[in-house]
Amino acid sequence: MAKKGRVFSGARPTGRQHLGNYLGAIKNYVALQDDYECVYCIVDLHALTTVDTTENLRQNTYEMALDWLAAGIRPEETIMFVQSQVPEVTELHTILSMVTPLGKLTDLPTFKEKVRENPDNINYGLVGYPVLMTADIVLYKSDVVPVGVDQAPHLEFARETVRSFNYRFNTKALIEPQMKNTEIPKVLGIDGVQKMGKSLNNHIELASSPDDTRQRVMQMVTDPQRMKRTDPGNPDVCNVFTMHKIFSSAEEVEMVNAECRRAGIGCVDCKKRFAANLNNSLAPFRAKRDEIGANPDAVWDVLHDGAKRARMIAQKTMDDVREAVQLPR
Ligand code: TRP
Repeated sequence: MAKKGRVFSGARPTGRQHLGNYLGAIKNYVALQDDYECVYCIVDLHALTTVDTTENLRQNTYEMALDWLAAGIRPEETIMFVQSQVPEVTELHTILSMVTPLGKLTDLPTFKEKVRENPDNINYGLVGYPVLMTADIVLYKSDVVPVGVDQAPHLEFARETVRSFNYRFNTKALIEPQMKNTEIPKVLGIDGVQKMGKSLNNHIELASSPDDTRQRVMQMVTDPQRMKRTDPGNPDVCNVFTMHKIFSSAEEVEMVNAECRRAGIGCVDCKKRFAANLNNSLAPFRAKRDEIGANPDAVWDVLHDGAKRARMIAQKTMDDVREAVQLPR
């Protein structure tokens, strides 16, 4: 079947993935493989821009790759690799930085946010983060990049940078990527308020045991207005209900919805049901993860093979770029 073009996406290696990562990104990565030639990159160099993502970098890279494979990334067709294993990206980053006005980088809302979060580590790499991201995308001649709202300014930046480069060097060497807006559900953590994230420790890991998962689910905050078991609840403001809608059958969702509103079911019961359904849904993933993870070398082999294939595309792009910029052959 002819594919619609090449999709590229990158994610920082954050180790074992959680429900937010799955629903927000991985699920979509898996689905895109049916229609596009996909290139998925674990961006370890980007991870070096902040201290928390620098710790356990290699192990986190491995764990994330394993989760991707267990979730259904198919490495025979999809190129899955680690950013730093194709060093051409750093060369392209340097060249692209020459057509990037500094003010544009420091004005980005994403940069300002990083500065707020990491006031003690405002490094040069952090400023250039979107330039490196642009290099990722264009090095692999990507047509389409799926993005949520938070990364949209970066993609717009990438498109502008491509136009500046092609104009300045009078070339068509770089392809301007299209933004594919993906409807990314905002997955809340077990606190029911903040976005699910490892740093907030409000996450539910895909790879944890059924018991640990159940314990985590039992800690989930429900409708804060519902104080007593006999109070009617409001599923519309309950994060557990949101999750039921994703992981439970239509009949059960209907039942929970109706019974919660008339205090027919309590929050404890409701969460037990969700935990059971979640564990059921994750069982095949967990089995596959155990199977693949029994041989860590095989995971690294997948990544090395991906890097080899990625590098072939990258070298061709760099030939064109070097030609355009008139670096010596
Ligand atoms: N900036 C992205 C993030 O913080 C990660 C990323 C790096 C990326 N390179 C990319 C995403 C290229 C899409 C395309 O999540």
